[in-house]
Amino acid sequence: PLVKELFGLSDLEEAVRAKFGLRKVVIVPGDSDESDDVKRELGRAGSRVLGQSLSPGDVVAVMGGTTMARMAAHFKVSAPLADNWFVPARGGLGESVDYQANTIASELAKRTGARYRMLHVPDHLSEEAYQTIMLEPNVREVVDMIRSARIVVHGIGEAVTMARRRKLDPETIAELLKDGALAEAFGYYFDRDGRVVHRMATAGLRLEDIEAAETVIGLAGGRSKGEAIAAVMRFGHDDVLVTDEAAAEEALRHS
Ligand code: BG6
Repeated sequence: PLVKELFGLSDLEEAVRAKFGLRKVVIVPGDSDESDDVKRELGRAGSRVLGQSLSPGDVVAVMGGTTMARMAAHFKVSAPLADNWFVPARGGLGESVDYQANTIASELAKRTGARYRMLHVPDHLSEEAYQTIMLEPNVREVVDMIRSARIVVHGIGEAVTMARRRKLDPETIAELLKDGALAEAFGYYFDRDGRVVHRMATAGLRLEDIEAAETVIGLAGGRSKGEAIAAVMRFGHDDVLVTDEAAAEEALRHS
């Protein structure tokens, strides 16, 4: 309540932007934990930001999740994006098919006339399987495209929620907790200082690709995610954050 009295929404945007050193912050009113309308608005705001960030020729790598699915459902363009590609940032990650990055990339492409590629590779691969699968020309081609993405759009989750959703085994979850994992984004787990505490060999985007991308857009809301959002912003490779009021307040409280 104190934060609300002092700040209007645009002041809150500026406070979050300055706190985490971001290029841009967009905040929708309300709390997506409490209201589905707010989550829909968050998706809309995300789609607007992505639309504004796109240039001809861009490859866009997208992650999965329910928030990303909302973003895709609202994405509209005034002219077809014949020159753009949407690719999944990673493989399956054990998500339900509606929320997989592959599904979201194809949905975005279908809605805009852009092109897309799929990555049909599971995320949990042994080193040996990884080396072999990367020799497949089809896979290699998609992976190279993913790793060259100029724009990355991703959701953010709480570490334990996401570890369970992805059915990590109990030992790994216990280890994550011991290491202070608090947030999850793009398949990596982060502690409160934004340090990566857990990573997997992946055929998709690696941390160095995220660092190299020109525009990284984080899309996440709900008070319950505030602390996780703060942790991922401390990791420091996001340029734009699209969130809601409750998550923004909570992220500031944890900063
Ligand atoms: C995905 C990210 O986009 O969204 C995950 O890759 C993140 O890292 C997840 O945890 C959050 O999902 P949701 O359903 O809460 O939007």
